[in-house]
Amino acid sequence: MKKNTFYITTPIYYPNAQPHVGQAYTTLLCDVMTRCHRLMGDEVYFLTGTDENTEKVVRAAEKEGKEPSEYMQGIVETFKDLYKNLGIEYSQFIRTSDEIIHWPGAIEMWKRLQERGDIYKGEYHGLYCVGCEEFKTEKDLIDGKCPIHGTEPERLSEENYFFRLSSYTPRIKEIIEDGSLLILPSFRKQEILSLLERGLEDISFSRPAGNVMWGIPVPGDPTQKMYVWMDALTNYITALGFGRGEEDMRFWPGTHVVGKDILRFHAAIWPAMLLSAGLPLPQAIVVHGMIISDGKKMSKSLGNVIDPNEMISRYGVEATRYLLLRHVNTFEDSDITWERLDEWYEADLVNGLGNLVARILTLSEKYLNRNIEKIEPSEGMWDELGKTYRIDRFLEYTWSLIQGLDRSITKDEPFKVAKKDPENGAKMIAELIEGVGGLRFIAFALQPFMPDTSEKILKAIKENKKPDNLFPRLDV
Ligand code: MSP
Repeated sequence: MKKNTFYITTPIYYPNAQPHVGQAYTTLLCDVMTRCHRLMGDEVYFLTGTDENTEKVVRAAEKEGKEPSEYMQGIVETFKDLYKNLGIEYSQFIRTSDEIIHWPGAIEMWKRLQERGDIYKGEYHGLYCVGCEEFKTEKDLIDGKCPIHGTEPERLSEENYFFRLSSYTPRIKEIIEDGSLLILPSFRKQEILSLLERGLEDISFSRPAGNVMWGIPVPGDPTQKMYVWMDALTNYITALGFGRGEEDMRFWPGTHVVGKDILRFHAAIWPAMLLSAGLPLPQAIVVHGMIISDGKKMSKSLGNVIDPNEMISRYGVEATRYLLLRHVNTFEDSDITWERLDEWYEADLVNGLGNLVARILTLSEKYLNRNIEKIEPSEGMWDELGKTYRIDRFLEYTWSLIQGLDRSITKDEPFKVAKKDPENGAKMIAELIEGVGGLRFIAFALQPFMPDTSEKILKAIKENKKPDNLFPRLDV
């Protein structure tokens, strides 16, 4: 049977700082969906990477007295290391400074838009925030400052090429409305529809080369460089070979996972570009909320930064994956602090899952005199999650099963039963493992989230042997 293909992407991150927990979260979410689709039997391609044709990087490099390319290389390594430490297994890590992999496709995209008559020259007078790499209007600002970066945007007056975004508004509205471009969750779909209702203006798609050091030259006009978002969005197809004559576009269309901060680019500009270029639209855009800490955006000066690497050293990889996936609400903003992470770790993992596994395997080692040859996952286990992306709820449900088993052990006291009536006791213990919602089911349910833990539990069940302590207590 031919396998279904599934293509999932993270945003490509700006390599102007060490990886942030929010970026780790998006990438982790994609890793889970990748694993989940593999378990469903799909052929999966998982893309991530870095967005390098940006002034931000040049400025960050200058601060450290480094060459931008050397600086970026260093940051890219820290991203790759983090992914490795988090057990994130991507298919490709694209870098948009890569003139072999990425540039030909970005240039091809530009040419297609131009051939369509959707690129024209104009004067741009207005504001630009380098932090956002975005053209701004007065109404986007608060007290004259960018609300995200708290800095005053630059006032630009320059010649640019514009993209006829406005003419695609009706078509994009239609395809989002009728669901052929799926936006999850539905309140984000409504949000983008009301933006489209107000209409989209044409957008600058280039900057004068003299004003930006970094970027892909506009084909046929070396005095201009492509606007970074135009080139960045194209990564989703250049990674598959678009523009390189070796198109492996069979994975396209894909599913883009993004934070809510960049929904507009993905749900309006990107589909317009694809329509103009005569390419299929993305399948879905999945939008998650922002992670904040102690009610505020994380920042070094506030001292509320949660560094994903620090999480791994404190809790271990598997627990870090769990804590982020379960306690960051998949679609809403979430607040996490070290205190709360510690509490969740103790409650859900040390006293929850870890304790339950030890409890059940101690019983079965003692009273259930057999190994289990074959254990299999339940049919259709991933269908729902594959559609809804409610990772947090899936885990919440799994933990309700853990609590249920714990309660039934306390209530039914199988150890006492087994001492008096070994046959009946063994039956009760087998039920804890193999029954509906039992430990076997839980172990399979953990596969995409905590792959090693899942494997350890399954092994323990098969061998009827209590595993080593899964989640040690924190030394405080
Ligand atoms: N380079 C652009 C994306 C181009 S995609 C064609 C960009 N980069 S970024 O480095 O700023 O990353 C933004 C993304 O990182 C967000 O959309 C989100 O996925 C993730 N997060 C960064 N901070 C975050 C939080 N505080 N919370 C959750 N995720 C956030 O934008």
